[in-house]
Amino acid sequence: MKITTVSAPGKLILFGEHVVVYGYPAIVAAINRRMAVTVTDSLDMTDHIDTGIVLDQRFVKESLILFKKKYNINSYITLKTSSQFSDRVGFGSSAAITVATIYALATHFKKPMTKDVLFDLSYQVVIAIQKKGSGADIAASIWGGIVYFQKNTPVQKLDSTINEIIVGYTGIKASTTKLIDKVSTSYAYDPKTFEKIFISISKIVKQAKKEIVRSDENKLGELMSENHTLLKKLKVSTVKLDCLVKYACEFGAYGGKLSGAGGGDCMTAIAPEHAKKTVKSALSKSGATVYILTIETEGVRIEL
Ligand code: MEV
Repeated sequence: MKITTVSAPGKLILFGEHVVVYGYPAIVAAINRRMAVTVTDSLDMTDHIDTGIVLDQRFVKESLILFKKKYNINSYITLKTSSQFSDRVGFGSSAAITVATIYALATHFKKPMTKDVLFDLSYQVVIAIQKKGSGADIAASIWGGIVYFQKNTPVQKLDSTINEIIVGYTGIKASTTKLIDKVSTSYAYDPKTFEKIFISISKIVKQAKKEIVRSDENKLGELMSENHTLLKKLKVSTVKLDCLVKYACEFGAYGGKLSGAGGGDCMTAIAPEHAKKTVKSALSKSGATVYILTIETEGVRIEL
């Protein structure tokens, strides 16, 4: 029996969350936590879907509907996912599972697909479900490495020796859609102030792009903290996220920020080698689940 397995990495937003929804750039890293999708032919006249620890099946189901419609597929499949992270931690599980599902189907049914087409289809799926979103997480899952992403612009992969990132998960699952709505409501209420914040963040993103290529961790840490201060002004941070960022810095990190939509989920920090252990234990003692993640250079791929 023909078995097709495809995997795609999760993501961590390094700079520019929220403003990326409004057309400004962001920098997103693919992380060494992957989501795998295996497709086989169904033995009966129905599709079978088993997403394991990923509780939200909407992205897989929508991907399957879209793919079958686009390529006129009338046969049935069995699809199983296996994941190196849960959909609670905010590592971009929806994007990774969507990308892996569509690419697994394309491979299984021998439909050659470029990365750009994969991006467009995945983005359609995410928008059909979430209604909002930039697609930055999809780009990281497809291209891998560290990507400079801006809507309607070709994705740029950034070369860097930066590899390890500290992440603290607050234990609080946040709704990306609600937080995007929150920013858009505040923006509508006070466009001048918010526009200014957006522009300040986008300047940080552009500076961070240069520092990533220079692999200057110290500068990147400082820029992360500056980005965090502005995210606080967008009112998407929480007391817990602020505390974790503060502790990371007090215990030796170059800097840190919330990562993703905010409202819970994760923060991230960059620290010098000698301070990593101390930062990690300070974050753990403050109640965070700590991950030391590395950048995953490879994006979506077929598993042999
Ligand atoms: C969520 O991980 C990041 C946001 O910028 C939303 C998006 O880019 O789609 C808040």
